[in-house]
Amino acid sequence: MIPAQWLTVAAVAGGILLVAEALYLLLRKRVPRFRLKLLYHLWALSLVALAALQTLGIDLLGSTLGGIASTVALLLTTLVVYALVDALILQQPWGKDQGPLVPKLARDVLRLGLLIAVGLFAATEILDQPVGAVLVSSTVLSAVIGLALQDTLKNIFSGMALDLEKPFHPGDWLVIEGGVRAQVVDMSWRSTHLRTKEGLDIYEPNANLSVSRLINYGSGERPFAVEIRIGLPYGVPPAEVKEVLREAALSAPGALDRPSVRVLLESFDDHAITYFMRVWTRRTSNVSGFIDGVNSRIWYQLKRHGIDIPFPIRTIHMHEAPDMEQQRQGKALRKASELFSGLDIFQELDDEVVRQLAASSQRKLFDAGEVLVREGEEGDSLFVVERGAVRVTKSDPEAEGKHVDLAILEEGAFFGEMSLLTGEPRSATVIASDHCGVLVLTKQAVATTLEADPRIAESLSRALAARRQDTMETLEDHRDRDAAATSIEDEQTFLRRIRLFFSLS
Ligand code: CMP
Repeated sequence: MIPAQWLTVAAVAGGILLVAEALYLLLRKRVPRFRLKLLYHLWALSLVALAALQTLGIDLLGSTLGGIASTVALLLTTLVVYALVDALILQQPWGKDQGPLVPKLARDVLRLGLLIAVGLFAATEILDQPVGAVLVSSTVLSAVIGLALQDTLKNIFSGMALDLEKPFHPGDWLVIEGGVRAQVVDMSWRSTHLRTKEGLDIYEPNANLSVSRLINYGSGERPFAVEIRIGLPYGVPPAEVKEVLREAALSAPGALDRPSVRVLLESFDDHAITYFMRVWTRRTSNVSGFIDGVNSRIWYQLKRHGIDIPFPIRTIHMHEAPDMEQQRQGKALRKASELFSGLDIFQELDDEVVRQLAASSQRKLFDAGEVLVREGEEGDSLFVVERGAVRVTKSDPEAEGKHVDLAILEEGAFFGEMSLLTGEPRSATVIASDHCGVLVLTKQAVATTLEADPRIAESLSRALAARRQDTMETLEDHRDRDAAATSIEDEQTFLRRIRLFFSLS
């Protein structure tokens, strides 16, 4: 061994390694999408090996050692060149906030194809192996590989087709064949990862997805409509029914007013007129919850308008039984009387007056989130919470669109007295906190009670003044406290106003 030759080998190898590593540092800095690490260093070493063999006079194409080194270097060079083209061209985005020019799936397939082609070339041309002939002539091998890869290839190509066509994106809600509703998590070579509302993961093969019919609800960026059918009585005019249904649908959580709700009379059926509704929402993640909201609001709204949902007509065998309806009404009246006689404001009243008041009240039910009283609207009824709770809120005078919570009123509490007693517009909005029942008293019923015992006006004006005071205190952060304090009306003022409004002596 001549030491001078080794020195040359070391110098050449060192030089190549230095240049390759310097290039690596430059690429890492300048080309952020270039992600090769270990493979790059192996490539640099393969170049060093080639240079060393060349310097030592070993034939790179003729000898076995040279052939193997050349093949390895060629394969690694292919990978490095591909990684560069990938980072500089294929991965470049189409535009701002957009995906890469060539989808990942297609890039992966391209790289694999390129490696196989270069590998075959190296095997036949450098290593002198009759690989091509073996591959082509071996029908058994071709059949085995072909059959083994059949499904995989089908999935890969389907995945590429889906990736190019983009019928859905991660985050979209799909209904796949069989009616399963699930959200797209991501896509891989073989399958698309979906997750159902129940938290179950589905890995649907791409080949299945590309041939089956998909319904894509999107991820909430665009509205979609749900369709609802309902049978309602012949006795109520369609215009009234449509108005009630429209109002109910619009009040459902998540319902949009644009595109507008459509209510159509669909058909005259055996026991009812069928109405068809189309209601729009963006709640892709909870369609059944949205339908439940609309249907519930319809029930409450119909109930309050006295419209029954009819049942199919049946033959019924009657037998003697106590009058259930009368019993039910008697029970409701007793409960209302008990509730009223427990209220501070009615403490002074005779039992008979309380009973009359309870008899004149009307029971109404509201779904959670429904508005019972809206700030600024006219109002001439008093409400007593019979079941559940309501939330009183008022618009913030300092911040437009914001609301300040004033109180939660529970069973036995009353509200709506301010407008009823003074004739002013509603001073606050009252919303059902959960499913709740209220007893509604009209102005007429309250007037009769005030006539029966004018002392009630005093307790009412006391309650009114106390609430005004509360409201002002709650809003004090939003206003000048002194100005607020001077604007509060006292009990006596309210009493005078109530007497005037109800023409009491
Ligand atoms: P009214 O103005 O007719 O309609 C809204 C109702 O909210 C109002 O009557 C009161 O009954 C009630 N309300 C207003 N302010 C308060 C408050 N601070 N605390 C409790 N209830 C209130």
